[in-house]
Amino acid sequence: MIGRPRVHLRLTDSTNERARALAAAGAPHGTLVTADEQSAGRGRQGRAWTAPPRSALLMSLVLRELHETLPLAAAVATCEALPLDASIKWPNDVWIDGRKVAGILVEGRPQEGWAVLGIGMNVTALDFPPELRGMATSLHLAGEDIGNEEVLGRLLAGLDRWLAAPTAEVLAAWRSRDALAGEPVRWQNGSGKASGIDDSGALLVDTDSGRVALHAGEVHLLR
Ligand code: BTN
Repeated sequence: MIGRPRVHLRLTDSTNERARALAAAGAPHGTLVTADEQSAGRGRQGRAWTAPPRSALLMSLVLRELHETLPLAAAVATCEALPLDASIKWPNDVWIDGRKVAGILVEGRPQEGWAVLGIGMNVTALDFPPELRGMATSLHLAGEDIGNEEVLGRLLAGLDRWLAAPTAEVLAAWRSRDALAGEPVRWQNGSGKASGIDDSGALLVDTDSGRVALHAGEVHLLR
């Protein structure tokens, strides 16, 4: 099962950064890096990821068995690890009640045969900075008092299953949790109605000038 060997750090720059260094040095598939606190946590799109010490599950896995569905499968596994109903905002933000509880950052060197899967999940946070309030939540705020280690155990079990699952199963599970399906969305270059994902994981949006497929970037729900 993935999650062994494990390195736990009280404070580090970024668990993804540490896992990348371990991967480059030959660490085996499934190596896990966790931390109480990060000084330079990274999010998607070049953003920072911050959380007060021990308030979030901060983890990164070295993966050497790579599937194209990795980012989607990771989101499905993260939802299933939660004791609450969760949905996925494309491509792989995990939401509870329309607020983000977990984010996923996949960084890789496919040509060297490895990727790092980083997951940050707000577990016990009591509050968020003003700019995130209203957009972020934690398991505690959503009414679930569960510890970081318990969530980690559930998450690793789910990742073990979903990272190796057939593509069709991953796509079906992802689609059943799609938070944007049928909703009005906008992105840098346009707006329209989100209409699910294609088999490559691209977001399909119906616009006034036809259907477009978004392969990367950020979309916002218009509500
Ligand atoms: C996002 O939603 O933008 C992705 C956030 C990913 C954050 C996690 S926290 C653990 C791991 N280490 C990092 O530096 N980033 C990921």
